[in-house]
Amino acid sequence: MYSVMAENERMNYDKAVGELRLREYPMLQGASLHTLHSYNSDLCPGTIYLDHAGTTLYAKSLIERFSADMVGNLYGNPHSASNSSQLTTRRIEDIRLRLLGLFKADPAEFDVVFVANATAGIKLVMDAFRDQEVGFWYGYHRDSHTSLIGVRESATYHRCYESDAEVEGWIEEGCSQDARPALFAYPAQSNMNGRRLPLDWSRRIRNKKQGSVYTLLDAAALVSTSPLDLGDSESAPDFTVLSLYKMFGFPDLGALIVRKAASSIFDKRRYFGGGTVEMVVCLREQWHVKKTDNLHERLEDGTLPIHSIMALDAAISVHRELYSSLDEVAKHTAFLAAKLYEGLTTLQHANGESVCQVYKDPAATYGDSSTQGPVVAFNLRTQCGGWVSNAEVEKLAAVKNFQLRTGGLCNPGGVASALGLAPWEMKENFSAGQRCGNDNDIIRAKPTGMIRVSLGPMSTLEDVTSFVEFVREFFVQDAPPAITPPVTLLDIEPPTPSRLYVESLAVYPIKSCAAFSVPPGEAWEVRREGLAWDRK
Ligand SMILES: Cc1ncc(COP(=O)(O)O)c(C=O)c1O
Repeated sequence: MYSVMAENERMNYDKAVGELRLREYPMLQGASLHTLHSYNSDLCPGTIYLDHAGTTLYAKSLIERFSADMVGNLYGNPHSASNSSQLTTRRIEDIRLRLLGLFKADPAEFDVVFVANATAGIKLVMDAFRDQEVGFWYGYHRDSHTSLIGVRESATYHRCYESDAEVEGWIEEGCSQDARPALFAYPAQSNMNGRRLPLDWSRRIRNKKQGSVYTLLDAAALVSTSPLDLGDSESAPDFTVLSLYKMFGFPDLGALIVRKAASSIFDKRRYFGGGTVEMVVCLREQWHVKKTDNLHERLEDGTLPIHSIMALDAAISVHRELYSSLDEVAKHTAFLAAKLYEGLTTLQHANGESVCQVYKDPAATYGDSSTQGPVVAFNLRTQCGGWVSNAEVEKLAAVKNFQLRTGGLCNPGGVASALGLAPWEMKENFSAGQRCGNDNDIIRAKPTGMIRVSLGPMSTLEDVTSFVEFVREFFVQDAPPAITPPVTLLDIEPPTPSRLYVESLAVYPIKSCAAFSVPPGEAWEVRREGLAWDRK
């Protein structure tokens, strides 16, 4: 799909990333093995990091620049008259503007509130709606992260939209009769499979619902590998949440960008604390006056994470110096993701069956960064059609130095719809002991989670090809399955009244390596210690 020229351009950028990576990301080369204060003695040379949707990696220059800033300047707690305090206040206000500038958000139209992470930004919005006397209505898209879904617990009414079509239909309905404030939330990018959702919903909801519905965009996953343009405040979401560590690897900080036109929703917020209140009377009378100057002063309770905010300044600068822009990052990662998708979907077993079941959204196209981010979510199949346990894949990947994510991915709606899991199945799986990340991950012949591989600015084509090679080496079955005459259950054991039956058997002869699937119908010895050859 890439022209020769575009492919060459991408390959050159990839080469440059490969070179800067040697300098900037020594942790990938196992540097911690040689460091006195190594906490991760398992990190071996040649680590291939494929969990950028969890967090991306911080550059060495970022840590050095931040450290030089800390050592070279005296920063006090803001809001006092001392020089150190004034310096902190000035720096923080500059960095606020710089962060808004990254998203082309005009400070006259938007304010930025620093929070611990994206979830804290979402909760701040939720608190404002919960504090409305009449309650509120909440709608959210199926692909939401659990952090968005949890908002429903404070809402008077809520609705999960199971598809884009449902959202579109609801938008077209126009205004509702309900006088309650309403909030619609969705992720700009699914953290499960990287699918990018339409960014024009905020504008369309505002127009069609005549401003009666506020919009909350969860941009935590999107902006790590994509620009986000808030230049037109009329079409921008009212609230946008970010996880800055997902963009830069460090600092551990989040942000909530608020469209000032929507800020009155915070007027009824009840809580105050630390920096958000002007005066409080608490002896004999209860009285207080909250700050009113600007929105961030009203919402940033307690001492700001000042050192993290300083580090953000260094993070923005270093990111620009290394990768030039988020546009470039988007092109690079889209190119790699297309290669990864192609590599995984073309793997076949000897009998022609696909090895990877990839959970791509039908509306998304790998290589097109407007519809798809650099994430591939999938499960592995044996050539007999069984599923390979994610826990086993993850263990083997760890042995081979691939760092990836498996399980429910904090995206219950996306995972349930991709895996075809009905609510009753999820509840029964829970009762049967299934928990995110445990070994009990195939129940009733269905996977309960998936494998997620995600790329970031410092990923390279070599990471992608090595991972595809890893899957080929350990999970592609090169010999067709042995043809065995069908056996009836009667040949092996008498039928029982139980509705439980053994559907498939797998043994794990070598610790942390893939399973050997016992061909259907083949008798297998059960010894005193368990299945023959298992866990030898
Ligand atoms: C789309 C999305 N939303 C929200 C979150 C939660 O972010 P945080 O952990 O920074 O609160 C994540 C984290 O993975 C995410 O990917």
